[in-house]
Amino acid sequence: MQEKGLDEKAPDYLTGTELNSWAVPSLRGIEHWSQDEIVEYLGSGRNSTASVAGEMTSVIANSTSHMTDEDLHAMAVYLKSLATGGKAVYQHQPQSSEATTRKLTAATDLSLGERLYLDNCGACHFVSGEGAPRVFPRLDGASVINVENPTALINVILAGAHTPSTSRSPSILPMPGFADRMDDAEVAQLATFLRQGWSNKAPAVSGEQVQKVRSTLAAEHR
Ligand code: HEC
Repeated sequence: MQEKGLDEKAPDYLTGTELNSWAVPSLRGIEHWSQDEIVEYLGSGRNSTASVAGEMTSVIANSTSHMTDEDLHAMAVYLKSLATGGKAVYQHQPQSSEATTRKLTAATDLSLGERLYLDNCGACHFVSGEGAPRVFPRLDGASVINVENPTALINVILAGAHTPSTSRSPSILPMPGFADRMDDAEVAQLATFLRQGWSNKAPAVSGEQVQKVRSTLAAEHR
């Protein structure tokens, strides 16, 4: 539905937007996913590194999971052919990733964000942020964490998410929501840690940004 450009000649074409307070990432230059990883994600809602959440869940459940492997491959070839438009992409830095893993493992002198991660998230996503392939998505390098707009990340932390059941991946994997356990300042500190921990690189998140998403969620559930 992003109509700022109608084909790849327009600089804004498929560069993402925001929908119902979920950041929609750019599809220009998906360099960190292989063609097969794109096919797996569109066909089943998950791949070895990521799981679908938010507005994209119904696209996978009702549309792309019903496509043939051939069609999904054709789509992936096309997406991989698009140029990045000059945007920086995530780069894995083994030393930074190991430094965060070591700090969380030692569990001394932790910042508030690090402590909240260890207490609430580490059991499933692990101190390495690597998760477990096709079960718990990777957080080191996750698109939802490294995009400039943090709304999708805040949504997942507050409300949780669950993968759709598709014929290629029938099991539903739930992630719990933490809206009742953390206040806006805590979620902001946790999200800021995620965006700057391991090799991730994205701007800090403020309590006001969390408050905005929380009030949208509250309005939806009224
Ligand atoms: C009980 C296990 C469990 C716990 C605890 C947990 N998660 Fe998750 N998390 C999951 C599962 C399963 C998914 C995939 C669900 C989906 O995306 O539909 C997920 C998805 C995510 C995603 C989206 C990843 C992507 O690829 O888009 C983020 C970000 C995330 N979790 C962060 C956190 C944070 C931060 C915490 C702690 C506050 C946390 N999780 C606690 C299981 C867990």
